[in-house]
Amino acid sequence: MSDEMQHAHFRTSLLEESDGPGSNATENRTMGEIIAARFSRRGFLQGSLAVSAIAATVGPVALLSAEKARADNGSAFVFDEVEAGIDDKHHVAAGYDADVLLRWGDPLFSDAPEFDPASQAAEAQSKQFGYNNDYVGYIPIEGSAEHGLLVVNHEYTNPHLMFPGIVKVVDKDGKKDLELAPLSKEQVDVEMAAHGGTVVEIRKEGGKWKVVRDGKLNRRITANTEMELSGPVAGHDRVKTNADASGTRVIGTLNNCAGGVTPWGTYVMAEENFHGYFNGSLPEGHKEAANYKRYGVPEGAYEWGAHYDRFDLSKEPNEPNRFGWIVEVDVDDPTSMPKKRTALGRFKHEGAESIVSRDGRVVFYLGDDERFDYVYKFVTAGRFDPDNRAANMDLLDDGTLYVARFSEDGAVEWLPVVFGQGPLTAENGFDSQADVLIETRRAADLLGATKMDRPEDVQPNGVNGKVYVMLTNNTKRKDDQVDAANPRARNAFGHIIEIAEDEGDFAAARGKWEILLKCGDPSVADVGASFSTDTTASGWFGMPDNCAVDSAGRLWVATDGNNAKETGRTDGLWAVDTEGGARATSKLFFRVPVGAEMCGPLFTPDDETAFVAVQHPGDGGPDWEAFGRPSYYEDLSTRWPDFKPDMPVRPAVVAITRQGGGKIAI
Ligand code: FEO
Ligand code: CA
Ligand code: CA
Repeated sequence: MSDEMQHAHFRTSLLEESDGPGSNATENRTMGEIIAARFSRRGFLQGSLAVSAIAATVGPVALLSAEKARADNGSAFVFDEVEAGIDDKHHVAAGYDADVLLRWGDPLFSDAPEFDPASQAAEAQSKQFGYNNDYVGYIPIEGSAEHGLLVVNHEYTNPHLMFPGIVKVVDKDGKKDLELAPLSKEQVDVEMAAHGGTVVEIRKEGGKWKVVRDGKLNRRITANTEMELSGPVAGHDRVKTNADASGTRVIGTLNNCAGGVTPWGTYVMAEENFHGYFNGSLPEGHKEAANYKRYGVPEGAYEWGAHYDRFDLSKEPNEPNRFGWIVEVDVDDPTSMPKKRTALGRFKHEGAESIVSRDGRVVFYLGDDERFDYVYKFVTAGRFDPDNRAANMDLLDDGTLYVARFSEDGAVEWLPVVFGQGPLTAENGFDSQADVLIETRRAADLLGATKMDRPEDVQPNGVNGKVYVMLTNNTKRKDDQVDAANPRARNAFGHIIEIAEDEGDFAAARGKWEILLKCGDPSVADVGASFSTDTTASGWFGMPDNCAVDSAGRLWVATDGNNAKETGRTDGLWAVDTEGGARATSKLFFRVPVGAEMCGPLFTPDDETAFVAVQHPGDGGPDWEAFGRPSYYEDLSTRWPDFKPDMPVRPAVVAITRQGGGKIAI
């Protein structure tokens, strides 16, 4: 097996970091390396799995005075902060319970088998909770905050953590490395069944959430679920394949990262790193070559193309144009065909959180997660009708997609990504809106959108009228590429931008922006972080990714990429003040086990439960140094959440509630 193939198996979140079209090589030292050097000098990294670097520096007295300082500055959060650190378990602030609700492999139907990691099969997996839970949404049943549908994305699969007997530890150039055997077709089929999404009925009884295994709306969506391609691209020649001459029927959805629940109660799934699933080469001189280059297709991380023609470019050259969309699922009908809503553009979609604007049009905020890519929003042409669900069901087929230009003077301009306007004409190779949408990135390039530091979740806040943009990091940004909205070269820790749309109108074509937070350790001057001085050593974070706003309008930020090497802490959920004197104060509420990323997060309508998704726990991939040890099926850094010797580590959704009941943050 080639080095490339060996690496290809490690589908950690590194796929998001893989060198895409926007990245460029640099020899410059990253901020992460600067921090790592600092920790190393103090010996903090020794025994990194066992000891929290931060626990050594923050004692109870320091924490108590920090609580007082935050209370004095008007913080909206009064819980007792959990200490940052790294170990094999999850941790929540004192006074709360964090209960595992749904694990990879848990049966979702009364006829589904129990999880058996030693004999995995696609048929069983397609009736069980999928792998690597990411987005979590809650759709109330009859308006209840204690009985509803949980909708969960399953972004991708980690074979080295899922399947026994495929990893060999080898010595390579004096360093340990992992070598993986090729996956069998049966294992590929399990992977495909572990992708997609879950719709499952849940109910709170006696203060604890339970899965309703025979819920009549329970559903698994996988990489094999038939979907309709709808909107302006449906039926276009560029999405026709040998298997689908109509250009309207796609098999499967891939790499569903974040997402959203619409005001009319449907579930939207964002297709993110679709490039990784394609192998093979386009026929010489094929007209899609430049288009695919801009998206990094084919990346070849998965072996699906060896078994299924649709993932092999030499056999189905148009197939990649059928991925990278927002998918809408009508959860009220488990037999309904999900729809890929092409009007919302094609890129590495992170999420699709929405809000009803003052005139009833619905605004969806969208991130394209790649270094130097863009922030978008989509405004429906039609208006939301709260009294007629059926009338809203195709709102996503008609509207205007905009891309953001952030100016140095603090203005943000939303540029229409519309065929015939500005440079989006035949002169530049666009013959229709379908062409513009298939090549959304190139259209946005021509419009002069602002190249951002990996846009992830973009969250409108209906309480304070602002919009929060999570920008994870971009270590490839060079000194001469810095701008006001992306102010740090070699941005290792990311930042958060706050937008105020003109006159508080989410559908507005313009707004103002400012930076809420530059992330990273504020005690290291080189990092240039901007947390308030009331933020403790546990309270700061790097790599903001997903986020949520509770019904009081408070911001909660989940992270992807904190680890021993760079931050001395696992990922987690941090509460971030946005108002008054406490603005930019952050505190840690929940942290994940080693190797995991924090996804979700989601508050029930009564704010009494926070659901969080623990994604890829126990993962270290090939990045041995960062985690201090290898981790794979036979030798895991954690066996969370079961901690049984015959059970592998399992991604899972956790329900956080207050002991004795009540709102999460009062
Ligand atoms: Fe799948 Fe951009 O996180
Ligand atoms: Ca994400
Ligand atoms: Ca991520």
